[in-house]
Amino acid sequence: MSLRLATAGESHGPALVAILTGLPAGLVLDRDAIDADLRRRQAGYGRSPRQQIETDEVEVLAGLRQGRTLGTPLALVVRNRDHKNWTWGMSPWPPEGEPAGKGTRPVTLPRPGHADLAGVLKYGLADVRDALERASARHTAVHVAAGAVAKALLAEIEVDVAGSVVDEAGLRARIDAARGERDTVGGVVEVRAEGVPPGLGSYAAKEDRLDARLAAALMGIQAVKGVEIGDGFALAGLRGSAAHDEIRTDRRRDTNHAGGIEAGVSNGEQIVARAAMKPLPTLMKPLASVDLETGEAAQALVERSDVAAVEALAVVAEAAVAWELARAAREKFGGDALGDFVAAWRAYLERIQWR
Ligand SMILES: Cc1cc2nc3c(=O)[nH]c(=O)nc-3n(C[C@H](O)[C@H](O)[C@H](O)COP(=O)(O)O)c2cc1C
Repeated sequence: MSLRLATAGESHGPALVAILTGLPAGLVLDRDAIDADLRRRQAGYGRSPRQQIETDEVEVLAGLRQGRTLGTPLALVVRNRDHKNWTWGMSPWPPEGEPAGKGTRPVTLPRPGHADLAGVLKYGLADVRDALERASARHTAVHVAAGAVAKALLAEIEVDVAGSVVDEAGLRARIDAARGERDTVGGVVEVRAEGVPPGLGSYAAKEDRLDARLAAALMGIQAVKGVEIGDGFALAGLRGSAAHDEIRTDRRRDTNHAGGIEAGVSNGEQIVARAAMKPLPTLMKPLASVDLETGEAAQALVERSDVAAVEALAVVAEAAVAWELARAAREKFGGDALGDFVAAWRAYLERIQWR
């Protein structure tokens, strides 16, 4: 039994959609909890006014009846409210009537650090917008909705996942300084998962390793350029005697340098993963680029943009980690009915005599 997630949607298109398969039947979902996570993603210091336009809400089109999953594909939709300003420019079909609103003129000024240049070259596009609309982090909204579903499933086996900003105290000052100079900043976020039993993931194959899966999930988020599990890069400078977490007679540890994963398998300690976000690539003081139409030197596209999205990344990273942990838990405990899943988890804890 494996969880799968497929998403679609452009930044200014009609909506973002996600299809989740592999959920057990009988899981109770709370619309307010999903919407609360969507709002957390939109909040945060340094975001652009777009976040006030959007006020994201989840809609469910399939797989849920009266608040309970049916064990069938769950289809989620988050509408792009801003689409009303782009109905001509982002019309899925050849638009009717005179050009109106936003997105009517082709973008030819690729931004360094974005998908713009690589996207038009790879897909043979004439309008950079055809690349940037999907490459944008806007669709992290449906990933957050999927993460909220994953967290509901994980709560059934007493796992709690929470993301936060590392060095939050200094972030606002860095954002204020950058905004004044029409610049952008990045930062580091951390996700902790409490209550993960030993035995999620596997050393049997590299793609089964839980650390590899978490790294891929975090690196899969826009603008993430580095991932650490536990003490990560700092471990390289330590001696073995200081780097490893000694095992007590009750099989727990007093330290957690490993971040809760050894040999690609959870070891029962808290899972700790960090992700480093680069400064956002759309600058109000644009970087040097080329006009793809004329071949002349030009300044990159300036489009409404955040100064920082580190707080949003904490929410998106939390969702990504929750999704991967839920996927690993589904593989380990299976079950078509929620009760089967929970019973398998209980039986396993009994077998290993955990806690
Ligand atoms: C939550 C979130 C919000 C973002 N907001 C913006 C933004 O407003 N402006 C921008 O230029 N990049 C933003 N980004 C980053 C770009 O989406 C990202 O840098 C771009 O897709 C290029 O991908 P790469 O950085 O992974 O190479 C955001 C990323 C995340 C995770």
